[in-house]
Amino acid sequence: MSDLAGKHIVLGLSGGVACYKAAEFCRGLVKAGATVQVVMTEAAEHFITPVTMQALSGRTVYSSQWDAREGNNMPHINLSREADAIVIAPASADFMARLVHGRADDLLSLLCLARPRERVPLLVAPAMNREMYAHPATQRNLAQLRADGTVVLGVGAGEQACGETGDGRMLEPDELLYEVVRHFQPKVLSGRHVLITAGPTFEAIDPVRGLTNRSSGKMGFALARAAHEAGAQVTLVAGPVALPTPRGVQRVDVMSAQDMQRAVQASADAADVFIAAAAVADWRPANAAGQKIKKDGSGEVPALAFVENPDILAGVAQGARAKGGALYCVGFAAESHDLLAHAQAKRARKGVPLLVGNIGPDTFGRDDNALLLVDEGGTTELPRDGKLALARRLVAEIARRLPRG
Ligand code: C5P
Repeated sequence: MSDLAGKHIVLGLSGGVACYKAAEFCRGLVKAGATVQVVMTEAAEHFITPVTMQALSGRTVYSSQWDAREGNNMPHINLSREADAIVIAPASADFMARLVHGRADDLLSLLCLARPRERVPLLVAPAMNREMYAHPATQRNLAQLRADGTVVLGVGAGEQACGETGDGRMLEPDELLYEVVRHFQPKVLSGRHVLITAGPTFEAIDPVRGLTNRSSGKMGFALARAAHEAGAQVTLVAGPVALPTPRGVQRVDVMSAQDMQRAVQASADAADVFIAAAAVADWRPANAAGQKIKKDGSGEVPALAFVENPDILAGVAQGARAKGGALYCVGFAAESHDLLAHAQAKRARKGVPLLVGNIGPDTFGRDDNALLLVDEGGTTELPRDGKLALARRLVAEIARRLPRG
């Protein structure tokens, strides 16, 4: 994945045990395609050596404002102007206090002060003991940093290096990477609430058996991440899949189509967009047995009768039309052939403005896909790509079609 291709990140380390996580974070940035210039405070060098950070970033580390390697002897100017973003991880309590006061007596705080604020965002990842984090002085500083336009990332909760338990741990390297990638995504769904269904449903036959399908949930989960990256509040109603919840997304786990319908109805009124990416079972066993159906050795096989499941998407779209159409509904069609014709027919049948077609056997379980968008204006093809890349493009297509919020 090259989510950060072409981006140049200044990674600043201030003093804290969490410096060990900065090494892996640096590696993650490089793997994601960024170039990384590490700058360390003197305190940070007590926790991790510049040698490690140089090896991981492939560049010599800066730590002094008097570094004569720069021709003009102004590393604070040169480094801050090259950057697409400055990320301080870990940001110690002391370092944030320095930022608040505009201190400039070490290279890292100096270059933060000298950065062109309108062009180079500053992200800080706080890391400290829970008492230090909860202290009114730190909380005041965090509020002031936000007021000054700094992006203050959250903290983790749990066991701390000091042996205490609480808020203040630095986010994990993968969480930090997600936050940086998210920062660069256009905020086309800012202020919107997006409701998404994903994955298969599971229709019980008895307490141990059931019917399901091959949907992996990957497309719906990618859409949830892409919508969150785009600034939306996201509710993800997921059938039984083992995928991790995208950061910042509210997940509701369900099993059957009826469970999914209830969960969707509970959130639909608050939503601006509904994306039905789930592969909902069309039918369910008419009478699920309360106890396991036993094989008795007679060779007789149980007969299964089915009833039709509610069509969640059609129901939500109908409800939205009845309420004046404020909710923008998007359906998916997984077909095996005649994609365009089926997608057009499905769009009309479901009563939704946008229908997204894909070839089922070419997408189930895979990490890539190709999409065909059908709306009242015609068709748009999104050629084969990774599911996250496609999800970002689909989110942008949906955002373009929304009435202005
Ligand atoms: O009718 P079909 O299952 O092919 O339609 C697919 C679209 O409708 C998908 O967006 C799917 O999530 C949605 N759907 C639904 N409830 C059903 C069946 C399908 O929301 N019972």
